[in-house]
Amino acid sequence: MSLLSEINIDQLPNHIAIIMDGNGRWAKSKGLLRNIGHQNGAKTVKEVVETCAKINVKYLTLYAFSTENWNRPKLEVELLMKLLISSLKKEVETLQKNNIKLSTIGNLNSLPTIVAKELKDVIEKTKDNNRLTLTLALSYGSREELIKTIKEISLKVKNNLISPENIDKSVINNHLYDHYLPDVDLLIRTSGEQRISNFLLWEIAYAELFFSDILWPDFNKENLFEAILNYQNRERRFGKTSDQLK
Ligand code: FPP
Repeated sequence: MSLLSEINIDQLPNHIAIIMDGNGRWAKSKGLLRNIGHQNGAKTVKEVVETCAKINVKYLTLYAFSTENWNRPKLEVELLMKLLISSLKKEVETLQKNNIKLSTIGNLNSLPTIVAKELKDVIEKTKDNNRLTLTLALSYGSREELIKTIKEISLKVKNNLISPENIDKSVINNHLYDHYLPDVDLLIRTSGEQRISNFLLWEIAYAELFFSDILWPDFNKENLFEAILNYQNRERRFGKTSDQLK
């Protein structure tokens, strides 16, 4: 029986973020090229995105390519970019059918023009969808994002557009890549690694962390339900005591 029946649909995490890890090890364990791991990882992306839309999770953010990933072998980077383009082309209909809005965070200027163009196209086509916002973190690094934010705010201070005492959480939020991305409720990382790897450092301040040993290409909707169930059995105190929550 599916774990879905055990999930409290009224208490879903509003924003799930996932560090999709383990494509390379999955391929290696089968004697396959790393790229085949990424291709199978893309199938998992489809299953997880469709499942989130189905159960009504409102925000899903996927770490698809970090600023550090540019240091991988040139061929692997090229194939990942090609996979991204083909997935976008292939899945735009799925996004429309499921009322999913595509969004991105990261230094998009560093992406190949053809990837940026395809992304812009799908973002435009899906901009009015409102069931689920799917955000792809591409050429993304949280420290770079925070540096960009600090630079922009400093410039506004210098030009007397904002005074330092008025800098608060919302001012910071308004200068991040995506002003509308809410705090993360549940952060999942697959493949047994237990690291944050420069992902959404600002937004995960109070996220519940879930580490799965499963390699990303093997991760499926039941594993997602397991993570959500685990999340629903935690007490989120946000600094308060248990008694205060009652
Ligand atoms: C981590 O596995 C995965 C990536 C760096 C890329 C993620 C890309 C995908 C899941 C496929 C396409 C994505 C979309 C959005 C269509 P790894 O290569 O670091 O694995 P390893 O740690 O085992 O080497």
